[in-house]
Amino acid sequence: SILIIDFGSQVTQLIARRVREAGVYCEIHPFQSAAEAFAKLKPKGVIFSGGPASVCDAGSPRAPQAVFDSGVPILAICYGQQTLAAQQGGKVEGGHAREFGRADVEIKAASPLFAGVWEVGGRYPVWMSHGDRVTELPPGFVVVGTSENAPFAIAVDEGRRYYTTMFHPEVVHTPDGAKLLQNFVHKIVGLKSDWTMAAYRREMIDKIRRQVGDGKVICGLSGGVDSAVAAVLIHEAIGEQLTCVFVDHGLMRAGEAEQVVGLFRDHYNIPLVHVDAADLFLGALAGVSDPETKRKTIGKLFIEVFEAEAKKVGGAEFLAQGTLYPDVIESVSFSGGPSVTIKSHHNVGGLPERMHMALVEPLRELFKDEVRALGRELGLPEAFVGRHPFPGPGLAIRVPGDITRDKLDILRKADTIYLDEIRKAGLYDKIWQAFAVLLPVRTVGVMGDYRTYDHVCALRAVTSVDGMTADFFPFDMGFLGRAATRIINEVNGINRVVYDVTSKPPGTIEWE
Ligand code: XMP
Repeated sequence: SILIIDFGSQVTQLIARRVREAGVYCEIHPFQSAAEAFAKLKPKGVIFSGGPASVCDAGSPRAPQAVFDSGVPILAICYGQQTLAAQQGGKVEGGHAREFGRADVEIKAASPLFAGVWEVGGRYPVWMSHGDRVTELPPGFVVVGTSENAPFAIAVDEGRRYYTTMFHPEVVHTPDGAKLLQNFVHKIVGLKSDWTMAAYRREMIDKIRRQVGDGKVICGLSGGVDSAVAAVLIHEAIGEQLTCVFVDHGLMRAGEAEQVVGLFRDHYNIPLVHVDAADLFLGALAGVSDPETKRKTIGKLFIEVFEAEAKKVGGAEFLAQGTLYPDVIESVSFSGGPSVTIKSHHNVGGLPERMHMALVEPLRELFKDEVRALGRELGLPEAFVGRHPFPGPGLAIRVPGDITRDKLDILRKADTIYLDEIRKAGLYDKIWQAFAVLLPVRTVGVMGDYRTYDHVCALRAVTSVDGMTADFFPFDMGFLGRAATRIINEVNGINRVVYDVTSKPPGTIEWE
């Protein structure tokens, strides 16, 4: 296995992801507990992550000496390079302007780190992010790659098999980075590619059993892939100790509730409590048009309904959530600075403190596409696994302004047609998320010989890797024309359709 020592970088999980993609088992441990983890895991290789600290500051993080003493190969990235240099007798200087962004690395000499990927004399794009820099290499090191501002962009000690980079090979902005990480784990450390989703599933099932013992777990299903995969996995681990609750707030898309109930009751035979709370939610939302008030109202009611159901189960000690890695990153500020709430997403936090339950989060280390792979491994139907994400507050945040049942009905119809056209065009899987928004704006139109005065419907579709940034999807005009015509012809209450061409940032994916 590989041990990844986390020095606090925002992208440490991407290192783990690349190692998993190379078919090798790895664990991330924060630098504070890395020594124990190293002793326990006995990894064949170690990767040091980047991090926000400066090695020049007193008390800044260091790697455990045992790692150096053991003789295992090390790949040290960014901050990792600096602490390795400092700990091995090199020099690091602070006070340089922080450099961030694309750079070209020029290869000066061969190394197994980039064998078969980069050639001596070539220049290749990489993603740099650093403040301090190494000014003197430790004994035994040579420079094999430089960039304009980073004379030690890649420095290695082939004898001890220490490889250090000032850039981040784990991010997509270093296009060949994944291959470098593969070289490290396969060729340098010598691990075979035998870690699969099937292995992950077994590992997680063990972990869940150890955590839960004979306790009871309650899991809220949202209709999305994440909570469904978490629930199926946990059910496989502990069977009847799990109760799933699906709170239908009346803000689902057409057919969504039926699909979830069908999947769990019929396909898996997993007991499911289906709470029809549409009246409760829509009643509380009547007249509410402020987006944050909508979210808070829904979040609060959700907790109340869920708590009531949890009581009926009779003292569940654990709450299962389908939290993914990007959710964790978005809700934790690693920089130490104050982070601004853009929207109060309610799928993380809230419940556990209030209900004094421990969290079971088997997907916490995974990215969306890995969750889908795990879902396939667990036998979830393809149509379910491939579903676009759907927000907890549902259609409430796709009806700007106040929400009525009529508006929800109109929106559901438009949304169904839009998605139908997308599927017919074979575009569903190319898009991260696509949906219709019903605007609180009416415009004048003419249909046949009549004047109309109806709602505007906005269509949105974006591509994204993790929902944190997104680009609008470049439909061709023919497609948009077809979708618009069908919506206007088939949905009473809409007489105009517009397409949203805003990316994120500056827009968000949802309209509220
Ligand atoms: P935004 O609109 O913030 O959305 O760009 C990013 C992703 O998160 C989803 N989203 C939510 N999911 N509860 C959720 O569970 C929420 O309150 C919520 N708000 C947005 C959104 O659909 C997109 O996938």
